[in-house]
Amino acid sequence: MEKIKNYVEANKQRFLDELFELLRFPSVSADPKYKADVLKTAEFVAKQLTTAGAERVEICETAGYPIVYGEKIIDKSLPTILIYGHYDVQPPDPLELWKTPPFEPTVRDGKIYARGACDDKGQFYMHVKAFELMMKTNTLACNVKFMIEGEEEVGSANLGIFVNENKERLKADVVLISDTSMISMENPSIETGLRGLAYMEVEVVGPNRDLHSGVYGGAVANPATILCQMIASLHDEHNHITIPAFYDKVIELTDAEKKALNAAPFDLKEYKSDLDIDSEWGEKGYSTLERTGTRPTLEVNGIWSGYTGEGAKTVLPSKANAKISMRLVPNQSSEEIAEIFTKHFESIAPSTVKVKVTTHHGGEPVVTPTDSIAYLAAEKAIQESFGKKPIPTRGGGSIPIVALFENVLGIKSVLFGFGLDSDALHSPNEKYDIYNYYKGIETLPLFHKYYAELSK
Ligand code: BES
Ligand code: MN
Ligand code: MN
Repeated sequence: MEKIKNYVEANKQRFLDELFELLRFPSVSADPKYKADVLKTAEFVAKQLTTAGAERVEICETAGYPIVYGEKIIDKSLPTILIYGHYDVQPPDPLELWKTPPFEPTVRDGKIYARGACDDKGQFYMHVKAFELMMKTNTLACNVKFMIEGEEEVGSANLGIFVNENKERLKADVVLISDTSMISMENPSIETGLRGLAYMEVEVVGPNRDLHSGVYGGAVANPATILCQMIASLHDEHNHITIPAFYDKVIELTDAEKKALNAAPFDLKEYKSDLDIDSEWGEKGYSTLERTGTRPTLEVNGIWSGYTGEGAKTVLPSKANAKISMRLVPNQSSEEIAEIFTKHFESIAPSTVKVKVTTHHGGEPVVTPTDSIAYLAAEKAIQESFGKKPIPTRGGGSIPIVALFENVLGIKSVLFGFGLDSDALHSPNEKYDIYNYYKGIETLPLFHKYYAELSK
């Protein structure tokens, strides 16, 4: 531990400067206008991996953005850790709400403000620096493989193909991912589950053109009104989802699991005041932690129709659209849920309109083990670095690759995240605490050490 701390101390400023350089690339995968920047980011990541000591570094082309691979195999008889992360980020909009520009990382109050600071540049880069540290101090205890992708924020459509075509190259004993949150630095935790996702888009079409709302209003169905009615009907008065068979495959937690989940420190009052809401919301019969960690949900992510510009325009719109996503839990399947959503949404459309439903990306839910060698290694690493045993929690977010690694490669993951839910992922003013960044760099080598020891 002393050796680790000394190395971090001696290289603190450079570790930060390099992360800032990475954060300055606007690697927004969702928007084609950033294409050149996303590609440059992949090159930068490859260069940094090489400098840190990785071999066989390659920018692997896919049908979309490339996957950066690199490895260091020191001894075939040692266990191999596959480190996964993503160098792409979410769009920074709405730009006007950022206190400082999203791609000009700025430190305020010990925190780095930038798009991707926490999700996931700040987090995956900790692994690159921890790897450098182990190489330079001659303490690398396991073989290491890096796989850093550029399409996580848009559903990782090409990653499945890559994983299937590179089974041999990606062979490992465990996947290590820092792309999740902890409860707090005082209450370190490890996420042991992620939700799946089914992402849909719907279109409700009424008359063949926008109409004068005075001439036609009252006699022709308004698609915006119909869409709102249809969406409103997707939850009942207990906030259960009304789609038939939606809950059929959901596994209910046992009483013991519920108890353990709700034992995690959580302050509902603080939660509400942080979000400036007077009351929380959710499915009747479940606590907030159960709702986000263990229950499937349906959210409208965007909705648009008619005139939304300056001033007023009296129009009866021809169309109304919405993006709707569902978070899934074990044993739901994204494909099945997309199918039953489509059927249901079509079936509730009144004859006054036509509806079209399309499926965007999806991902499967996972629960990761808490009795594996890898989990124990993570627990020991945190115990040593934080002086506290981590609490296992269930995360509400999705990382589709985790189920894929399990299903295609047969490898389980450890979700070794150092972010906080309050880091404003996907929101304006995303941040990552410099303290967490260094703490991560110090903790990760301990994982490698304990994983090697426990694997013996
Ligand atoms: N890192 C997040 C997922 C996450 C965040 C998990 C916090 C747990 C805690 C990831 O980058 C992400 O945003 N995933 C998307 C899914 C993807 C298919 C667009 C998500 O969860 O919406
Ligand atoms: Mn992420
Ligand atoms: Mn994300």
